[in-house]
Amino acid sequence: MHPLVRDALLTSPEAFYVKGLDGRYVFSNAAADTLVGAAIVGLRDADVFGEAAAIDVLRFDRQVLEEGVSITYEVTRLVGGVERTMATTKWPVRDAEGKIIGLAGTTSDVTDVRKTMREQMTHTTRLAALGYMAAGVGHEIGNPLTAMTGCIQILRRGLAGANLPGALADQVAGSLQILDVGTDRIRRLVGDLRTLSRPDSTHTEPVDLRHVVDMALAMSAHLVEARASVVRETRDERFVLGDDGRLGQVVLNLLMNAAQAIVPNSAAHNEIRIRTRRWEHDEGFVALEIEDTGEGILAEHVTRIFEPFFSTKASVEGSGLGLAITRQIVLSLGGQITAEARLPRGSRFRVLLRAAPSP
Ligand SMILES: Nc1ncnc2c1ncn2[C@@H]1O[C@H](COP(=O)(O)OP(=O)(O)OP(=O)(O)O)[C@@H](O)[C@H]1O
Ligand SMILES: [Mg+2]
Repeated sequence: MHPLVRDALLTSPEAFYVKGLDGRYVFSNAAADTLVGAAIVGLRDADVFGEAAAIDVLRFDRQVLEEGVSITYEVTRLVGGVERTMATTKWPVRDAEGKIIGLAGTTSDVTDVRKTMREQMTHTTRLAALGYMAAGVGHEIGNPLTAMTGCIQILRRGLAGANLPGALADQVAGSLQILDVGTDRIRRLVGDLRTLSRPDSTHTEPVDLRHVVDMALAMSAHLVEARASVVRETRDERFVLGDDGRLGQVVLNLLMNAAQAIVPNSAAHNEIRIRTRRWEHDEGFVALEIEDTGEGILAEHVTRIFEPFFSTKASVEGSGLGLAITRQIVLSLGGQITAEARLPRGSRFRVLLRAAPSP
């Protein structure tokens, strides 16, 4: 055997080992010894894992040796008190005449891979189910809502000509006002659900982020300016691929969240900072950052905030769809979004968007 091949096997990050027909290891590389926690050449599985656990291993070995087939299996066992999942492939080793003379195997720790896969599956399945439901619900609510809005208008017109006694007129006008606010909120929720379930639009054009920030700030001024002083650093590197509407929604959602994270009546001590710059780690992207000095995000919530319907706000204030929509839009534009703690307090949301040449 070429010495290079032996060295390659010895240094492979995948555990590799060979056993004779008597069940003793005749070769193991460093990764195999590390996985088991001992040098295993010369030992049998019973010596390595104990009699009980070895029975399982030997069952697989027998299948390989008796049936002459290669097999792949996964086993989850406790290693140092922690559950780990190991994926193993074993195959028969044959001599020149085809007689089985031993068994070889590779094993790798797939705990993290399996965990990520499981999480992604759950996330994807849930989003798909949600999209399907959202489209249906949006449609079902949309029609009666249009009818209700029409009725409110008719009632309002009727009220104007009805000449009701003062107190009653006030009461009816007040009720109509409440209906207006309520239907408006439902309309927005339905719109959000539709955005979330809409297939991604593919149209993009160079957009001036400074203009987008202007728009979003104007729409949220009532809340934002009451909670913090706004600092803008949006002079450079501001053309990205997208469209005004969707990018405006991204900035608006992030601004509203930043403002809502700051307690009322403390505008003098708080700041919301909006920054755009060329992303230093990848020329092709522009980073848009929105930072606040608000209450921050709990470590255990960081991985959940982008989930649809995850909200820590009172149900009248937040539906938990803002960041789910934001993330969906950013991904559909070929970008990325991350959230992190901002020291000493507050949060920072960073959106990476594909850079466009200035027109
Ligand atoms: N800037 C921020 N600071 C602290 N927490 C935040 C910030 N942005 C988002 N969060 C957390 O993430 C959660 C989800 O945000 P998201 O925008 O998706 O929903 P929401 O603001 O609760 O409701 P909605 O946006 O639908 O009105 C929030 O409830 C809050 O706990
Ligand atoms: Mg929000």
